[in-house]
Parts: sequence; structure tokens; C-alpha cells
Amino acid sequence: SAPGAGAMVIFGASGDLTKRKLLPAVYALFRRGLLPDGFAVIGVARTEMSHEEFRREVQQAVIGDATPTEQDASFLARFSYVAGQYTESDTFERLQAELVRVSEVHGTEGNALFYLAMPPTMFEPIVRGLAEHGMLAEEKSWARVIIEKPFGRDLESAVELDRALKKYINESQIYRIDHYMGKETVQNILMLRFANAIFEPLWNHTYIEKVEITVAEELGVEKRAGYYDNAGALRDMFQNHMIQMLSLIAMEPPAVFEADAYRDEIAKLISSIRPLRGQDLATIAVRGQYVESVDPERPAPGYRKEDGVNPKSNTETYVALKLFIDNWRWRGVPFYMRTGKRLPRKSSEIAITFRPIPHSIFKPIRPKDFSQNVLLLRMQPHEGMGLSLEVKSPGSKLCVNTLDMNFSYSDFMHGEDIPDAYERLILDGLLGDQTLFVRNDTVEASWKLFMPLLRAWEDNLDVVPLCFYPAFSQGPKEANEILEGGTLQWRKI
Ligand code: BG6
Repeated sequence: SAPGAGAMVIFGASGDLTKRKLLPAVYALFRRGLLPDGFAVIGVARTEMSHEEFRREVQQAVIGDATPTEQDASFLARFSYVAGQYTESDTFERLQAELVRVSEVHGTEGNALFYLAMPPTMFEPIVRGLAEHGMLAEEKSWARVIIEKPFGRDLESAVELDRALKKYINESQIYRIDHYMGKETVQNILMLRFANAIFEPLWNHTYIEKVEITVAEELGVEKRAGYYDNAGALRDMFQNHMIQMLSLIAMEPPAVFEADAYRDEIAKLISSIRPLRGQDLATIAVRGQYVESVDPERPAPGYRKEDGVNPKSNTETYVALKLFIDNWRWRGVPFYMRTGKRLPRKSSEIAITFRPIPHSIFKPIRPKDFSQNVLLLRMQPHEGMGLSLEVKSPGSKLCVNTLDMNFSYSDFMHGEDIPDAYERLILDGLLGDQTLFVRNDTVEASWKLFMPLLRAWEDNLDVVPLCFYPAFSQGPKEANEILEGGTLQWRKI
């Protein structure tokens, strides 16, 4: 359903995230008829620009060089621009005046969704500026703030960030984005589990042997070395996206799919993950960094040679972890999780392996000759699902074969694009639905989980040594060690 009237204010309006993700998402919502009639977008950034110049940038980001249709023109007419420093009172005064103006001209009714497409050091000054100019008060209208990770770089800084924001704003106004939560296929995990009767009875340690979660990227560090070299894969991917995906696979069903009931279950799940402290870290964690590609067909430099990366950097571009969830449902089931950059291809998937059959009636085929059933959830690309089943090979002999039942989302969508995560999340922000946004307690629980590993890595390279893998390979070979001492294999990427 289309949300009620409101303006969207984008801080960091000339930045990369705005151009690549936010503007295309807002445009897609407009095309789908999901924006309210009373809608406007105000861009805020430091560069001096007229409204007209900003509209041209928006136009370029959403339709490129195509000629705008009449509809496009009506979309673009809703954009305006405020230039200024984020720390100056004057900027907020002009923004406030602009909000009043768009309320009158475009009927946004004084409601505002502030999107901070900015580094986190700017969150507090901006929220303070908004609060001091009365833009966060919710007496007659609503005011919400969307922020993007990183939410701190460890537990302490995450607590500090939250404390700083809460001086001016309530939890109910803070929308923390984890864009994986907006992905259709990630949300579908819940639909699969809780809208079908056939999986949930098997969804536990009695029937599931292991779960493998992979988020592989082909891209390297690109132009983000300034951020990434200080963060690394554990902070960039595990603390947020990987933990959220694990939560969806492993959580208990909330009574209703609503913000607090749902996020209570996620918080409960994260706090049931076996603490890394006290475990032998070397047997459950592997960190890696990519070096130069050895494939002449696919040349790529090593991480330390990338623009902006410290040539002696020990930052990990790959992490593999074995986690356990110490609760009734999952006792003893390993969750093997890995993520990395410069792997052979982009591929995010979750593979759930069921236990072997207890006994074979097909002599002489032994139980271990049967492949175990695997339910494969493909998040991206080629979104879909697969289930492997054992079947009889046709013929008079008793021969077993593995059949992969495959379902692809694209068949089901009849050529329509799967909506981008940002579309869903911006729409939810306008609707005031916090369900898919990350609550502060889960941010902190996740940092708490990873702190022992982060500390061990920072203090001592020897505890979990940095391993190296050639760009576009399967990752460090040491990653096999955490799979029961190398007796199992990761799925091929
Ligand atoms: C971001 C990370 O959150 O997610 C990036 O900061 C990563 O390093 C990206 O590339 C992956 O997202 P997606 O949607 O391309 O899988």
C-alpha cells in the first residue's frame, strides 16, 4: 500500500550511495505507483548547486540520457536542493524553510524521512542539527531517521553512537538499514519456513546435520579502501548481513510478523550463539586476504596493491567461521559461514544438509552411498531454491542417483525485475514499519559476539593467522580446516 504523505531528505545527496541506490529506488517506487501523492525529495550536500542542477543529476541517475517523459518530469519537479555544511546552523535553518515550502507546494504535511547517506561520524552532528531546529519533534507530524552501517567499529563505539543519537531521538524514530534484510530472497526465508508445513517439523538438530552460509563476491575493494581497510570482512559483512541471515534461518517463529515481536526473536537468537570467548579460535575461524590472481585469463592485483590500501595491511578480505547455537532446536548443529571478496563469482546461498538415512533397504547400497538431501536457498544471483533428492536411475538395476529440483524466481516473476532491497526499505521507512530495520539491542549483541575474535586478531596475528588466497580462487585452503579438521569440503563457489 502507498504510504501517507511525507518528504524524504537525503543528506549526502551528491554521494555514490544516493546515485547508485537511493535515487533509482525512489524512482522505481514512483514507477510502481507506491509513492504517496504528497511526496518530495530534498537533497542536502556541501556542493553549491541550484535546484535545477540537482534535478539534472537526479535525472541522470534515474533515466540516464533518455528523454524524460511527462511522468518523469512530474517526478523530477518534486526534487529540490539545500547546500551547506552539516555542522552549521544555517544549513538546518534553510532545510527547515525548505521543508515548510515543500509541505505547502507538494503536500508533504510536515512529515519527514531523513536519510543519512553519510559516514557515521556525521550522524550525531546531523541529528543534533535536526533536533535543535525542531525537525525531529513528532507532535503534529512524524520524523524518522535512516542510518547506514557501520554502527560503530566495536561494542564500545556502537554503545557510544547509540547514546549520542538517543540524546535527540527515540529508538522508534531510528531506522538502521541492513540492506540484506530488504532483499526479496532473504525475506523469503521466513515465508518458506513459516508459510509451509513441510519444513518446520524437520527444522532442528534431529534432522539437520549442518547449515552452510556463503556470501561470495567477485568484486575486490573497489574505491572504498578508505573505509574497508579499517573495517575488514568481519565488520563489513559478518557483524551485520551474515548474522541477520543466520538469524532468519535459525530463529523461532515470532507470534506475528511485526517489528517488535520479530526483532525480539532475532535478539534472542543472536544471544544464543555460543560465545567465541573460551573456544579455541583457531579451530572455528579463518581469516584471509587476497593476493594477485594466478589466472592469466583473469588478472587482478593483490589486496595490498589496491588503491588506498596500506601496503602492509593485515585487513581480512575473507572470513570463515563455525558457529553453534546453544538452544534446544540447534544443539550441536554447526553453522559454517564464510564471506569474501575476489572469489570466483558473486554468489550468496544457504545450504541446509539433512542427516543421512538411518538404514538402507536397498542392499548392497549402504546408507553412506546415498547423498544427503540438501535444501539450497539461492539469495543472489539466479535467485531461487533447490532441493536434492535421491531417486532411482531408470533401468533394471537398482541404482540410485541424485536429482536436483530447481526453482528459479525469474520464472515466477514473468520477466519482471525483482525489486531492489532499497526500494522495500525506503518504502517501509515512509510507512513507518521498522520490522526489517535493525534494532539497537541486536547491533550490540552482534558486536558482543565478535569482540573476542576482533580483540584476538588485533592483539596477535598468530592466534588466527592471516592466510592468503589468490584472487578468484575458492578462498584460503586453510578454510577447510574448520570443517571438522578438513574431513568435509565447502561447497564450490
Ligand atoms: C555492503 C558491504 O554492506 O554489502 C560491501 O559494505 C559489500 O563490502 C556489499 O560489497 C554486498 O552487497 P550485495 O547486495 O552486493 O550482496
